[in-house]
Amino acid sequence: MLRRLHPDQPEGFAFTPANQAWAEAQITKFPEGRQASAIIPLLWRAQEQEGWLTRPAIEAVADMLSLAHIRALEVASFYFMFQLQPVGTVAHIQVCGTLSCMICGAEDLIGVCRERIADKPHALSADGKFSWEEVECLGSCSNAPMAQIGKDYYEDLTAKRLGEIIDELAAGNVPVPGPQNGRYSSEPLKGLTSLTEYDSGKTQYNASAQLAVDIGDTVKRIDGTEVPLLAPWGNQVTGAPASAAIPSQQAEPAKKSTAKAAKLAAAKPKKEAEPALLEGPRSEGADDLKTISGVGPALEKTLNEMGIWHFDQVAAWTKKDIEWVDARLKFKGRIERDDWIKQAKELAKGEKP
Ligand code: FES
Repeated sequence: MLRRLHPDQPEGFAFTPANQAWAEAQITKFPEGRQASAIIPLLWRAQEQEGWLTRPAIEAVADMLSLAHIRALEVASFYFMFQLQPVGTVAHIQVCGTLSCMICGAEDLIGVCRERIADKPHALSADGKFSWEEVECLGSCSNAPMAQIGKDYYEDLTAKRLGEIIDELAAGNVPVPGPQNGRYSSEPLKGLTSLTEYDSGKTQYNASAQLAVDIGDTVKRIDGTEVPLLAPWGNQVTGAPASAAIPSQQAEPAKKSTAKAAKLAAAKPKKEAEPALLEGPRSEGADDLKTISGVGPALEKTLNEMGIWHFDQVAAWTKKDIEWVDARLKFKGRIERDDWIKQAKELAKGEKP
């Protein structure tokens, strides 16, 4: 299936302050030079905040990780869990269409979605409240057929019951997830035949369904305020969410840029260790450093702030110069890992790396 960005995109994207703090905490989980590995949780968080993954969101996440935008887009377009088009404002219904569910009536459920929401998957209902898609096995085969709505599974479904659930959600009510045929979880429908002494009824519903009932919402979008912000592995982001000390990149770009420039200037080592730096680009204009694989817009800006504007500057770096530049990059080791020198030499000669 061809997965493309949606033609209608919002102007911009910014994590809520709490989600921004959460995202920065996630980045600290990864070792130096490997922070790009945080891309999936960050993209996922962006999707949870907005409902779907917009181009500005993908680019904002790429910038946070100093990645070229295309590299974040590759991840977003590869995994089907990322929604690249708007989803229903109330709920996006994911109907399992794999073997067990198909045998037990998934086609009837899809029929309900076609009739009640939209004929085609990934299209919005007329009122914009719902969307749907068929997905592969969600691992709840013993409760087939089933669908995931929001974060919860609705199992042992019938076409009639799915229609009722859509009505309940549309009316702003909270249907109870879990088995819809009276089962507690996935025990035999006629009752337990073994482990009969096991007391499964400690809570009214099984743990997943009980959690949804206790929260009182199964389709709520995350804004970061409903989960504790924990970063026990790092020391730069801790405490309560919505930290005013961590503004979003989009909210105050000028301020952040100035602070970054000051930090870079303060970090300048002794003059003799510096690579050749320029006050600004030469008269012919700056080279597009993003042509170097591994350099994204954010990284190019950082290099420009250091005084690096041209391929030949990069091509001439010595080992000491690499160390000097590397020490000023957020994620270390990428110069050698992506072999910027070799790429820059070729680009300086007008060749494609
Ligand atoms: S086949 Fe539907 S959950 Fe596994």
